[in-house]
Amino acid sequence: MYYKKLDWPVLNDQQHAELLSTINTQKNPKPIGAWGSTYLHYTVPSSILTWCKENLPIDGYSQIVLQRFCNVNSIPVHTDIRRTENIIYLLSESGPITRWQKEGVVVDEICVPQHQWFSLNTGAPHEVLNLNGDRVAISIFNILYPVSKKSA
Ligand SMILES: [Fe+2]
Repeated sequence: MYYKKLDWPVLNDQQHAELLSTINTQKNPKPIGAWGSTYLHYTVPSSILTWCKENLPIDGYSQIVLQRFCNVNSIPVHTDIRRTENIIYLLSESGPITRWQKEGVVVDEICVPQHQWFSLNTGAPHEVLNLNGDRVAISIFNILYPVSKKSA
């Protein structure tokens, strides 16, 4: 299996609205990797960060961010840099498809539903399709190793 539904508590409507407004109000989100301004990390508001730590089994994870793909409709096949698992909770509408390949053959895919927790295997080659211009999600993961001096 390349993905797994997690039976974790979900956030309430007020928290959903606060997270979506964060991407409109927070200045200087962090651009990630080679994706430039199309893939951004925002800071999760502290009250929601506290809720996550109190209500979700995430002791083993070091990163909780609000991730956003914008102005892009697909991400070509890749493996994520420095992580093998990404737990996501989709805040924007469902529609984007994560599709895994092995040696060029499609082996699995998921259209992640809105407002449910899913663990995705991002260490295996995958692409993201049907992004519809803007995908926003909570993202929880571990960084496997630090950025080297060369690439920092
Ligand atoms: Fe990825």
